[in-house]
Amino acid sequence: QAPPEVTLFEVGPRDGLQSRGGMVPAAGKIALIDALSRSGFRRIEATSFVSPRWVPQMADAAEVMAGIVRAPGVRYAALTPNLTGFERALAAGCDEVAVFASASEGFSRANLNCSIEDSFARFAPVLEAARGAGVPVRGYLSMVISCPFDGPTAPGAVAGWTRRLIEAGCYEVSLGDTIGAGTPDTLEPLLAALLDETPPDRLAGHFHDTTGRAAELVELSLERGLRTFDASVAGLGGCPYAPGARGNVDTRSVLEVIEAYGLAHGIDLGKLAEAERIAHELTSI
Ligand code: HMG
Ligand code: MG
Repeated sequence: QAPPEVTLFEVGPRDGLQSRGGMVPAAGKIALIDALSRSGFRRIEATSFVSPRWVPQMADAAEVMAGIVRAPGVRYAALTPNLTGFERALAAGCDEVAVFASASEGFSRANLNCSIEDSFARFAPVLEAARGAGVPVRGYLSMVISCPFDGPTAPGAVAGWTRRLIEAGCYEVSLGDTIGAGTPDTLEPLLAALLDETPPDRLAGHFHDTTGRAAELVELSLERGLRTFDASVAGLGGCPYAPGARGNVDTRSVLEVIEAYGLAHGIDLGKLAEAERIAHELTSI
């Protein structure tokens, strides 16, 4: 089977559930991930190995990884902010990990308790250990449009930090509009600045759908050559350290945009409905 032309990176089990107050049991997370595996996703962000004091909802990361049924060809990923996180993720059998930086100082402090520069110093040993273990590392950059603490983010700053993540060894940088502030008018100059120095196949779009315009941002990104998008089943989502962050763009609405462009995504919509049903069930707890 030919690889799909557009890759959906399903982040619902991590980004979608991390900020929920009511604890979702590990068994529910496992059922959701297994349904996503059956739907044809090749990349699923299953959990995060962060401090359980910071994000209690992800404290069961190892239990979740141990409980899922691994579908062939699927890469199960997790966030790892530091070496402790990476070692936990490796022991749990993650196929890939992600480091996450912020394009704004205010959010870096709120989310990682350090400056942007210091966060890179923490990532360095993760990237080195991952290289040694043959584990691919994805990079996230948050607040690429605007930040609730610092205001609008300069496109040049986003381009610079993106380059730094790639130079540090990330195979791809996911561009986070963490609070869903973007519009085609603000994304356009950002993509222009980024694509000046980074090819589109090293970039992914990570849009939160706060104002209902995320699908337009996917369209614009597709037109500029991006072919990987993060999305969340049933639009689950939010970030505990980003005031105002709402759900990630709904996976189904991204698939609709991709289909409207006549591109293949490889997801079985009927089976996705089963994952959506589980997502609704988990969030009605
Ligand atoms: P800190 O308090 O500065 O660091 O937190 P620390 O090293 O002093 O650690 C504090 C405690 O956590 C210690 O435990 C450590 O052992 C423990 P204590 O001694 O107090 O009992 N600890 C860990 N435990 C398990 N796994 C670990 C780990 N690391 C430390 N990996 C730290 C610094 C980075 C740990 C903290 O700030 C943190 O965990 N932050 C994560 C925040 C987070 O997960 N945010 C959500 C994900 S980012 C996001 O959603 C955006 C994204 O979707 C893109 C977008 O939308 O823009 C990706
Ligand atoms: Mg996010």
